[in-house]
Amino acid sequence: MNVLIVHAHHEPQSFNAALARQAQKSLEQQGHSVTLSDLHSMNFQPVSDRRNFTGTKDAAYLKQQQEELHATQTQGFAPEIENEIQKVEAADAILFVYPLWWFGMPAIMKGWVDRVFAYGRIYGNGQLYENGIGKSKKRGLVIMTTGGRPDNYGGNGVNPAMESILTPVQHGIFWFNGILPLDPFIAWSPAHLNTADRAKILTRLDTRLTNLFTEAPVQLPPLADFPDWGLDSHSRFMVTATRTKPIDTAYTALTPAELAHVEQLKRQGILLNLVMTPRTAADWRAYLTIRATDRAEVAATLAQLPLATYLQFEIQLLA
Ligand SMILES: Cc1cc2nc3c(=O)[nH]c(=O)nc-3n(C[C@H](O)[C@H](O)[C@H](O)COP(=O)(O)O)c2cc1C
Repeated sequence: MNVLIVHAHHEPQSFNAALARQAQKSLEQQGHSVTLSDLHSMNFQPVSDRRNFTGTKDAAYLKQQQEELHATQTQGFAPEIENEIQKVEAADAILFVYPLWWFGMPAIMKGWVDRVFAYGRIYGNGQLYENGIGKSKKRGLVIMTTGGRPDNYGGNGVNPAMESILTPVQHGIFWFNGILPLDPFIAWSPAHLNTADRAKILTRLDTRLTNLFTEAPVQLPPLADFPDWGLDSHSRFMVTATRTKPIDTAYTALTPAELAHVEQLKRQGILLNLVMTPRTAADWRAYLTIRATDRAEVAATLAQLPLATYLQFEIQLLA
């Protein structure tokens, strides 16, 4: 398979650069053909302007998407952009390896996306979401280092949840273009890790990448579910779960399977939100937002939960 690694870190000795090298090595050892766009060593120019093009559609007014369409029709992309576009077109998987900067990606990488994902060639004219260039087959993986710890980004920390921080990449860049987003690989706070712990992360990445083309992607909803770019054709339901029996040993034994099942429902785009009171609270409650076609589908989903026999569900249709 062809894998494109796009890497943005200005220091080759950084742990982030070590992750990019590890990814390349692991994938080549598996027999994949790897192309590396190391943006700093390429001295990639991230500012999007007329330098993206060799020709001009409208010299009086620069409208990027119009010029991109014109360049698509006239083979008019600047060589450094054409080169990167061809790498994207050829890739079966695209890996973005970058440090988290200001809750986002470094400008050099954002600029690479701004310039390379060109209207007409990469997206647009019906090429979007499941019909996008990824055709729901190419895969996208974020490999990221952070300064903060996981609990800072877990949803109850001072920072936003990592899932929402990564939405512009997972949904806005990958899935918008039909590229299946995989769970991100995050190396938390490497500045505080010793050499042995860093080595363990590199090994974990090596193992993870053996599943690059087999692991289940995160499922985001297809454009087909939103007729005429309108609202979701599926309904949203609020489920209030209460416990009808006290916690016993069987309940405790089933809890890991319950948590795994819940994770699975989230990754399938069925469970949109879950909040709950502490596990041992006498008046324990869980509140779930579920995306489904009808109430019967919600009930069927809930019945599959490993702890379903301990729980009672109240299902309400949301506006
Ligand atoms: C400009 C800049 C912005 C940063 N913004 C964030 C941030 O929003 N969240 C965070 O957790 N760390 C942030 N950091 C810390 C980096 O993510 C962290 O130093 C890096 O990922 C560590 O990997 P490295 O040692 O390979 O560089 C920022 C660092 C810089 C230089």
